[in-house]
Amino acid sequence: MKRDLLTLQDLSNEELMHILTLAKEVKASWDPARYGSTLSGRTIALLFQKPSTRTRVSFEVAIRKLGGDSIFLSWHELQLSRGETVADTAKVLERYVDGIVARVGDHQILIDMAENARIPVINALSNRFHPCQIIADLLTIWERFGALKGIKLAYVGDGTNVCNSLLVGCTKVGMDISVACPVGYEPDPEAVQWAFENASRTGSTIIITDEPLEAVKDAHVIYTDTFMSMHIPESEREKRFEVFVPRYQVRPELFEHARPDAVFMHCLPAHRGEEVVSEVIDGPRSIVFDQAENRLHAQVALLIFLYGSSVPS
Ligand code: CP
Ligand code: NVA
Repeated sequence: MKRDLLTLQDLSNEELMHILTLAKEVKASWDPARYGSTLSGRTIALLFQKPSTRTRVSFEVAIRKLGGDSIFLSWHELQLSRGETVADTAKVLERYVDGIVARVGDHQILIDMAENARIPVINALSNRFHPCQIIADLLTIWERFGALKGIKLAYVGDGTNVCNSLLVGCTKVGMDISVACPVGYEPDPEAVQWAFENASRTGSTIIITDEPLEAVKDAHVIYTDTFMSMHIPESEREKRFEVFVPRYQVRPELFEHARPDAVFMHCLPAHRGEEVVSEVIDGPRSIVFDQAENRLHAQVALLIFLYGSSVPS
């Protein structure tokens, strides 16, 4: 049966840990004899409705490392932009390619695509979730602290797709997560529900608050994301900045309440002076480029999981 990855909730806890272990292994030592032909003879379509640097490039490089081919499809150059349905597009693409990595505005598009294609559909970001980002983030945290269980991540800012996926991912691996978002900008209720379901099995603790100082208390990681995600209309900028700045900006003072060895994480692209000040993102606590690098290793591991014979024991 084909597997999709629309949200991290599509993976069992064991499968997510398996992908992370594999990512660590392929990062530490790349074994072309073992994995270099995983995608041999296969073509993966990258269908993007929105701009991307990290996700697009890391998937293209990962696919090549695994011996496959990729085709980049800009939504605006496809008949989708003239009204062809997502279902028809999916039914056509499955006749040509072996998988679709899709970045879309509306998460429902991914659901429709996955329902209509007999090939794997991977979420490369939607308005609601960004699962591939969080696989790389968990790998980065694991490397940094040598553990996941018991590590506390504090997310401060807008309740974005990244925040939603962090809630799901952290609670699957037994991490503690606290989220501080302004009233009216909270995370997706379904993501919160999944997080509590996961936590009841893994023992993770979850705090959802509007108070950044409460969220960052004793945190190992302070994480933020843009206040103006790609699907948010420009007309909301002024109103959002009144709500978010300066209270939800990640500033050095916030780290006084976290652990002494706390690190700063951001999915990127970052907006200095908006969700984070330069002193933090360009300072010694920042591990944002390790995070960005790990997108590649996480993508390689995810593709081996979906297309190789490697399954969790
Ligand atoms: N973090 C992330 O997804 O970056 P891109 O938008 O550049 O792909
Ligand atoms: N929340 C951001 C993430 C970018 C990687 C957005 O959706 O634009």
